[in-house]
Amino acid sequence: MRVLLLGSRGQLGTDLARAFADCRVTPCTSEDLDITDESLVQQRIAYTAPDLVINPAAYTRVDDCEREPLRAFQVNALGPRHLALACKRWDIPLVHISTNYVFDGAKPDFYEEDDPPRPLNTYGITKLAGEHYVQALWEKHYIVRVAGLFGLTPSRLKGTNFIEAMLRLGAKGTPLRIVCDESLSPTYTADAAAVIRRLVETGRYGLYHLANQGGCTWLEFAREIFAQAGMNVSLEPVTAREYGAPAKRPANSCLNTRQLDALGLGPLRPWQEALRDYLASKRTASTE
Ligand SMILES: NC(=O)c1ccc[n+]([C@@H]2O[C@H](COP(=O)([O-])OP(=O)(O)OC[C@H]3O[C@@H](n4cnc5c(N)ncnc54)[C@H](OP(=O)(O)O)[C@@H]3O)[C@@H](O)[C@H]2O)c1
Repeated sequence: MRVLLLGSRGQLGTDLARAFADCRVTPCTSEDLDITDESLVQQRIAYTAPDLVINPAAYTRVDDCEREPLRAFQVNALGPRHLALACKRWDIPLVHISTNYVFDGAKPDFYEEDDPPRPLNTYGITKLAGEHYVQALWEKHYIVRVAGLFGLTPSRLKGTNFIEAMLRLGAKGTPLRIVCDESLSPTYTADAAAVIRRLVETGRYGLYHLANQGGCTWLEFAREIFAQAGMNVSLEPVTAREYGAPAKRPANSCLNTRQLDALGLGPLRPWQEALRDYLASKRTASTE
């Protein structure tokens, strides 16, 4: 199988390249192909003639999307539109990665695929628009909403992930203020990529939630990180309002994997186990 992989040096993109290593993968950075350029997208897909296109590329800096809504819309909405149109023209299935931030957080339980989305910020609005374009334009799609990613390769646009940010700040020895009223499903990119590899074998197109099992607040996530890393760090709970990030986030954006479970591809292992594996892999990498 020939695979065209966008965002190939991103956090999830790097693990997708590993998960599809048995295929002929053409990795694409934003310099190789800017997905906001419709004619380049058409040309590149025609030239590469892949059997599958995978798009984890996005403008992922949630707070910056508020300052740059046009850029966010170009990358997160028009990019997938251009990909969907090109994939339709050449009859190529498209995997498009979306987000738990399409939800407003009002649901007290884990979000399922048929819960109505109502994003609270520009990032979520533009990512939902991207989903709509893909759904409306090309039926051979897998839209996969992931959540709270952490991977061995740091987020390309943010330069880090939550775990690394905590470990770096925790090592300074000063108390950390961590948001205690927003819940998420932390998800290891290696686990997510492995499931996407199996999902595309099924031919069951549609909308999927993909996350490690369970949910926690950012504060609980931080506590578990420091417990597993054997670090004693003083944590001060703050509300999202007190923390004051520019983009409003949903109070709850935990996902369950009902549709993947129905295909026998879920549930994934609990996020705490995935975190243990992540930290062990980091230790191994640092001693090599
Ligand atoms: N991070 C999270 O916690 C999280 C949570 C929910 C959903 N998601 C979704 O999961 C996906 C992967 O996230 P991630 O954290 O792995 O992202 P990331 O590490 O920040 O990587 C994003 C990638 O997008 C590429 N990109 C940006 N603009 C582009 C453009 N105009 N044309 C082509 N490529 C472009 C970048 O390519 P270059 O590196 O080559 O510039 C980069 O590799 C995204 O769709 C994101 O919305 C992430």
